[in-house]
Amino acid sequence: MRVHIYKDGARIGKAAASLFAAEIIKNPGCVLGMATGSTPLPTYESLVELYNQGVIDFSRVRTFNLDEYVGISRSHEQSYYRFMFDNLFSKINIKPENVKVPNPASPNLHDDCVSYDTSIDASGGIDLQILGIGNNGHIAFNEPGCVFSFGTHIVDLTESTIEANKRFFDSIDDVPRKAITMGIGSIMKAREIIMIATGRVKAEAVKAMINGKVDPQCPASVLQLHPAVTVFLDEEAASLL
Ligand code: PGA
Repeated sequence: MRVHIYKDGARIGKAAASLFAAEIIKNPGCVLGMATGSTPLPTYESLVELYNQGVIDFSRVRTFNLDEYVGISRSHEQSYYRFMFDNLFSKINIKPENVKVPNPASPNLHDDCVSYDTSIDASGGIDLQILGIGNNGHIAFNEPGCVFSFGTHIVDLTESTIEANKRFFDSIDDVPRKAITMGIGSIMKAREIIMIATGRVKAEAVKAMINGKVDPQCPASVLQLHPAVTVFLDEEAASLL
């Protein structure tokens, strides 16, 4: 793991966007793994800036998102599909048909989970995957106690994730209890990974990810086994290292 500590999230956004830009410039038809949440927002803002400046072109880029809630529609303002269009895809020249987000409205979710992994493999695999980390050490919705070998699957969200995500909903009762998530097995196949974490609230999870043993109780600790991970932290997230 390469660990870089920055002063704040805005600078991390620029750094992470630079790695995305380098990937797109080297390989204009690359496959990018996208994440939602508040942490990647400065990265997406910087990518939009680079696109507007004519530095990068998304016309051949393909993307797969990590996860999606089950129980709300794609048009719901908290759906991850909508999040991606609101914050990135509607602001760049990516082709909508090149964008994949797990579909919670599918009549057969289990089959769809399998075909999500199949279509990632058929695309040639993810070249660069961005990840955030949950306060409990989750990556995507792979919660503590997850099975490292799993591909895309349906999960029950833990109380701590429901609690952390309630800030986006009117009340805690509105937070979905289930989600579709790429598994750790799917994520670890990405050729390169960027992990970003900001804020004191992430410091314990970051410490377990970097200094702890590889343990499903901290799903992000599995990244110690990946050969090409770049970690961007702000000073608060790095404060317990
Ligand atoms: P956040 O979520 O970026 O909103 O903190 C990260 C995560 O839960 O993976």
